[in-house]
Amino acid sequence: MAATIIDGQAVADRMRAAIKDEAGAFAAQHGYPPGLGVVLVGDDPASAQYVRMKRRACEAAGMASFASILPASGTQEEVDNAVRVLNDDPHVHGILVQLPLPPQIDEERILRLVSLNKDVDGFHPENIGLLAMKGRDPLFTPATPTGCMVLLREAGANLEGANAVVLGRSNIVGMPIALMLMKANATVTMCHSRTRDLPGVVRGADVLIAAIGRPNFVKGDWLKPGVTVIDVGTNKVDDPSDPRGYRFVGDVDFEAALPVAGAITKVPGGVGPMTITMLMANTLKAARRIAG
Ligand code: GUN
Repeated sequence: MAATIIDGQAVADRMRAAIKDEAGAFAAQHGYPPGLGVVLVGDDPASAQYVRMKRRACEAAGMASFASILPASGTQEEVDNAVRVLNDDPHVHGILVQLPLPPQIDEERILRLVSLNKDVDGFHPENIGLLAMKGRDPLFTPATPTGCMVLLREAGANLEGANAVVLGRSNIVGMPIALMLMKANATVTMCHSRTRDLPGVVRGADVLIAAIGRPNFVKGDWLKPGVTVIDVGTNKVDDPSDPRGYRFVGDVDFEAALPVAGAITKVPGGVGPMTITMLMANTLKAARRIAG
């Protein structure tokens, strides 16, 4: 039987409608909407595209968005100042510093500078530390992994005691989702470029999170029948049959996985729409915490 498709777009649309209602109620009560401030340094096209998408989504949900855009040559002091201005602005409730930052910028220093109350990306070392600790909870959790957890819940995945395999150990996705899965009582294995017998490890997974950024990397015969697959990869590949000349594919060979998996996300239309949705949910939460 073919896998159930986990429709991230539908889940995101439903959540965004609820967020829009709540943002409207917040604005009616306070006279101004919840606001997200974004710091973008440099002109990386993918980062610029993410920032545009975040801005549009905020506006569609009745939230304000504030962008601080600095050139790739921006100095530490300039980026520090951009964060400080957003920290001090009462109409900004959430702050996101788009990553990666150019090499001359100290990323950890910047993430530490974001006010804890406005850390809607959940990347402040204190929030990540709280996520890692048993019995503690961060104020905010990172958007993409939080979206993955929502999709796992939507798919009805039973995480209690499940073997969860995470491919990729990035600070943005792999590391935080491993911590979240552990908090949900899964038995978590983290894989990376030096993992031995990757197919063998993946074959043990009841839940697979693929976040390595390599097109169609995971093959169908690596999957345990019935596995729930969350594909975080968004890889641009050439496709002469597409009018654009390219298309996006995930880290998992979708066609090969379909007859084996129990449930799987699509790319695009899976995790992608959830990331911005969770960021907006965090911004609304931050606005409520700050303004009441
Ligand atoms: N770059 C890629 N994904 C993300 C994200 O979720 N947050 C930030 N701040 N930067 C990113």
